[in-house]
Amino acid sequence: MIEIRDVWKSFGEKTVHRGVSLSIPDGATTVILGRSGGGKSVLLKMIIGLLKPDLGSVTVDGKEVTTMTFPQLQRLRFKFGFLFQAAALFDSMTVGENIELALRRHSDYRDADIRDRVRYALALVKLENVEHLMPSAISGGMKKRVGLARAIALTPKYMLYDEPTTGLDVETADGINLLINEMKTTLGVTSVVVTHDIHSAFVVGDRFAIFEQGRFIATGTKEDIRNSPDENVRKYIESEIHT
Ligand SMILES: Nc1ncnc2c1ncn2[C@@H]1O[C@H](COP(=O)(O)OP(=O)(O)O)[C@@H](O)[C@H]1O
Ligand SMILES: [Mg+2]
Repeated sequence: MIEIRDVWKSFGEKTVHRGVSLSIPDGATTVILGRSGGGKSVLLKMIIGLLKPDLGSVTVDGKEVTTMTFPQLQRLRFKFGFLFQAAALFDSMTVGENIELALRRHSDYRDADIRDRVRYALALVKLENVEHLMPSAISGGMKKRVGLARAIALTPKYMLYDEPTTGLDVETADGINLLINEMKTTLGVTSVVVTHDIHSAFVVGDRFAIFEQGRFIATGTKEDIRNSPDENVRKYIESEIHT
């Protein structure tokens, strides 16, 4: 379980978070929705201690992240897989080598098991016989899948997805959404998905949190969100559906 409590964060003069609180329960997919530039990516970075709030608390499985030492943060990050906005594959390495590198750096799998692990991870994202390809030879959608394979190969408890479908065509995006759901059902991963795509949000989400003006203005199930008495929530959902 991840708990964010009354987090405040500014960059210079600009206050990005103004008392952000959110509980992220295990075994479900929580979707964070909000406008571009609002502070969603920064929030994900706070969960893994890449950025620190100015005030407030972030706990993962009961442990306070904001005061962790570097070795404690390294241990914390073993629990997490990330799919960042850009898939961030190393261009000079093959697809297989990209995943192998992550396993060598961040796991204690033995050499003999690493090949199998790479194949297993690629099969999970429905890719076969791509180990020897260079990233430049595959499509944007495939790169996302490889990025997901690399994250999932490390068997994380939590997966953080930052705009996983942004920039993809609808069909490719739906493929990624199905995979996000499969990671939950087959591996039991707890996921946090940041997006501004309402369609994708409703395909993958069990719980939703709408971020506006530095805090969450609504959290809950799809019905909770749809029936929110807050006019800004309805406006947000409607404006997104019609664009
Ligand atoms: N490391 C940083 N240093 C300074 N400003 C930052 C940093 N990271 C993010 N910001 C600013 O914080 C705001 C929120 O950014 P971000 O979390 O990336 O928004 P989004 O909701 O689109 O993911 C933006 O104005 C951005 O410029
Ligand atoms: Mg972002």
